[in-house]
Amino acid sequence: MRIFVINGPNLNLLGKREPDIYGQQTYADLEAYLRVEAKKLGLSADVRQSNHEGVLIDWLHETFSVKVAGVLINPGALTHYSYALRDAIKALDVPVFEVHLSAITKRAESFRHHSVIADVCVATFAGKGFVSYQEALEALASYASTKAS
Ligand code: DQA
Repeated sequence: MRIFVINGPNLNLLGKREPDIYGQQTYADLEAYLRVEAKKLGLSADVRQSNHEGVLIDWLHETFSVKVAGVLINPGALTHYSYALRDAIKALDVPVFEVHLSAITKRAESFRHHSVIADVCVATFAGKGFVSYQEALEALASYASTKAS
């Protein structure tokens, strides 16, 4: 089963950006981790990153023409204010799972506490670094197998 893993603005800076919050591992490490963990669950992860909101939306729309079992998305700061991204997620026919490396609801800056996409996603996984993605992969695999049976 193919899935999309979509990462938004600044996630390409993993390892360099606020390592005390986001960790020492790089974006390349995250991509490699996701492919391995997805494979263990019988998923083939198409992992992408863009700093541009419209590109993220185009990738979400791609699920209408490409067969995917679901999407994991970490929209970076767009999480907190992008109604365009929210509308795109709401329009999809496939399940979308929200992921964050950090515990957004516990961060010092209060603008991070609210996600405008949370209620149009199946579930949110946050606060566990790369493991947040692994938990979301498991949830997607289990959701997809329930739907298939
Ligand atoms: C993030 C949390 C966001 O608030 C932040 O803007 C990011 C990363 C996370 O993965 O913890 O860029 O989505």
